[in-house]
Amino acid sequence: MEKVRYGIIGIGKMGSLHCLRFKYKLIKNGTLTAVCDISPERRQWAEKNLPGVTFFEDYKELMESGLVDAVLIATPHYLHPEMGKAALARGLHTLIEKPAGVFTSAVRELNEAAKEKKGLVYGIMYNQRTNKLYRLAKTLIESGRLGEIKRINWIITDWYRPQAYYDQGGWRGTWVGEGGGALINQCPHQLDLFQWLGGMPSKVIGYAKVGVKRNINVENDVTAYFEYPNGATGVFITSTHDFPGTNRLEIDADKGKLVIENNKLTFTELEVGETQFNATNTKFMPKIPVKKKLVKRITKLGELSQFVTSQHTAILRNFTDAILYGKPLIAPGEEGINGLTISNAIHLSSWTGQPVTLPIDEKLFEEELAKRIEEEKEFNKKKVQL
Ligand SMILES: NC(=O)c1ccc[n+]([C@@H]2O[C@H](COP(=O)([O-])OP(=O)(O)OC[C@H]3O[C@@H](n4cnc5c(N)ncnc54)[C@H](O)[C@@H]3O)[C@@H](O)[C@H]2O)c1
Repeated sequence: MEKVRYGIIGIGKMGSLHCLRFKYKLIKNGTLTAVCDISPERRQWAEKNLPGVTFFEDYKELMESGLVDAVLIATPHYLHPEMGKAALARGLHTLIEKPAGVFTSAVRELNEAAKEKKGLVYGIMYNQRTNKLYRLAKTLIESGRLGEIKRINWIITDWYRPQAYYDQGGWRGTWVGEGGGALINQCPHQLDLFQWLGGMPSKVIGYAKVGVKRNINVENDVTAYFEYPNGATGVFITSTHDFPGTNRLEIDADKGKLVIENNKLTFTELEVGETQFNATNTKFMPKIPVKKKLVKRITKLGELSQFVTSQHTAILRNFTDAILYGKPLIAPGEEGINGLTISNAIHLSSWTGQPVTLPIDEKLFEEELAKRIEEEKEFNKKKVQL
């Protein structure tokens, strides 16, 4: 195979941008041969903008057309596991958009299906893993330069969504359409990076407040506390009603502290690890000498350069190279379940008012989610009557 032939399923906001990446030949070894959407409006868009690309209304027909070697699934989240399994069953390399799904049992089934298809590449669009600052943080952690992590905190409140966002209708901001609010729509990248850098917690306590300052029935204000197997702790705060918002990741470790904020990473490396310092120190309120302050910035690109060199393009190129040359994936599909597990655990803890230990009780999660989907029908009726 010289070029990977791609089919994109779901050509809405995100899927159509992925189409344009192929149209403008940003994916050197990939070509777009087919697209699929159930919307007549998206069909018209494809006919106008993607000449020579075959359009399907039924994703299974696309998968069985013989026109594609790989699919990129960019439909609403509930559909990712079902469509992913269908693609793998038909021998297609499969890249799913984030989040991997809405509940972990469906994603586990997808992972198991992928495990059985050893020759197929299975990835997830965790494009923020290509961000140079998060990659540097990962290298610093894995090289041991940070030492053992003691605390990981992320405040990510810089996605302001007014009532108009929620009133646009469709699947967004609903239990039935996407399985929640900020956690499942806005935060999957951060929850993935949270575990990519800090590992998986063993215990989660979450408060996912619904409808704060908005007439909505899903969470838009979340505070979660985590405990890790080594005794470390963590806090994750998100909201969609703060303005101006904050995006600050802070990792405190034995040998120093790493902060990423405003496109800048600062690593304050200690002369000697805190544990070692404490073992011999005799002063009451000392300061541990700093060995080095490492500062790395990334510049904000203009819109066009951002599209060309975007993180999504990087994931698509990497996925293509994994198919053609066996290159390791930046974001293997199997890892999609981790961030979703954290998201589900926060929801479950908030719903039950109890701490949740991992692995989560998947059955209970699905029962509680089903309750919220039912309650949503009443909420919508009342909203219409207002
Ligand atoms: N990686 C990222 O940075 C990023 C950014 C935005 C969205 N996303 C993800 O991409 C996915 C899509 O989001 P969006 O903003 O493009 O939504 P969207 O609603 O604009 O697009 C979804 C498209 O899927 C189509 N669709 C629905 N059911 C279908 C079916 N059964 N068969 C074929 N097509 C179907 C819809 O008609 C629509 O055109 C979501 O899971 C979202 O989380 C990822």
